[in-house]
Amino acid sequence: MPEHLTAADAQRLDDLFDRLKVGGERLLGYPADTGFDFSPLYRFLSLHLNNLGDPFRTRSTEHHTHELEREVVTQFARWAGAPESDVWGYVTSGSTEGNLHGLFLARELFPDGVVYHSADSHYSVGKAVRLLRVEARVVRSRSDGCLDLDHLGDEVRRHPGRPAVVVANVGTTMKAAIDDLPGVFTVLADCGADRRYVHADAALSGLLLPFLDGAPPWDFAAGADSISVSGHKMLGCPFPCGVSLARAAHVGRIGREVAYTASLDTTISGSRNAFAPLFLWYALRALGAEGFRTRARRCLELADYACEKLTAAGARAWRHPHANTVVFDRPADAVVRKWHLATEGPLAHIVAMPHGTREQIDELAGDVAEQRPAG
Ligand SMILES: Cc1ncc(COP(=O)(O)O)c(C=O)c1O
Repeated sequence: MPEHLTAADAQRLDDLFDRLKVGGERLLGYPADTGFDFSPLYRFLSLHLNNLGDPFRTRSTEHHTHELEREVVTQFARWAGAPESDVWGYVTSGSTEGNLHGLFLARELFPDGVVYHSADSHYSVGKAVRLLRVEARVVRSRSDGCLDLDHLGDEVRRHPGRPAVVVANVGTTMKAAIDDLPGVFTVLADCGADRRYVHADAALSGLLLPFLDGAPPWDFAAGADSISVSGHKMLGCPFPCGVSLARAAHVGRIGREVAYTASLDTTISGSRNAFAPLFLWYALRALGAEGFRTRARRCLELADYACEKLTAAGARAWRHPHANTVVFDRPADAVVRKWHLATEGPLAHIVAMPHGTREQIDELAGDVAEQRPAG
């Protein structure tokens, strides 16, 4: 045992580990897959690594995983319908950073632009707007969580001649709603907004939609300029991370040479987590596209099962066709706490993840039926 660590300290660590482990077994409300085995990578944690700088401008020192990072970015970009030669990306600390990066690119392209995002957008979008000090309008969303295109049109028309920067939700946090991207482009064209930039926030669904048949248009092929995806959600990396992707021309505009790092400064953070690309790369290789497809199918089957069971328990459950998020009537607080449910007003949700089981759903539905408040 290290010299200054007391027996009480060691006990605290044991207790903390036990508590966190038990909590993780009932994590139904948050989309973090906990079922993937990353243990073959644990030895890397004894190394000091740093992915400082642009992954496509590798430094001479070797204490980084830029090579794997490039492969991860390339794979994510392919799944996001990117033209091979025109996309750039890096591994972020999560989709909050990805959203900030996307909106930073947009602000540098259109300093006089107006950002339009829906009321259902993740709070990180509003925060990025504040950080970047850009003008923004919150567009109404419909009851299913999708952007109200009529209201978008009204708002864009109120800012004639100003470039339009639209954040499209590709799976909102609460209802997993996917905004109608072709519809957004039609509205912008109808409003004469020919200077436009679309950032797609695909935090969860960016690793689900590529593996589902008949998914709605959401990606670069559908016209997005930048896309943010999380790495700790569908893919289950044990710490927060993500991938920010953008059309290369947008990134060229923000890059600054930094002599000290011998790299191009194109990322939000300077020093960056080198383990994240390693863990993401490992999961990509270990699962392969087929593995992702199987997991996506299983998630949707489990989500259907949850809809059925929760509705039978009296909680009016539903989901969007390409979503593994199941929305239902908010149950009693004890049920919310036990299953770590995400809630918003009268609604709660669970996210059917690869580690989820029918037994968990049965138990949740039983709790809901037993503890639902009267009325
Ligand atoms: C739609 C959406 N965007 C962005 C984020 C932020 O992602 P992160 O937690 O990876 O920063 C989330 C997180 O839940 C999200 O649901």
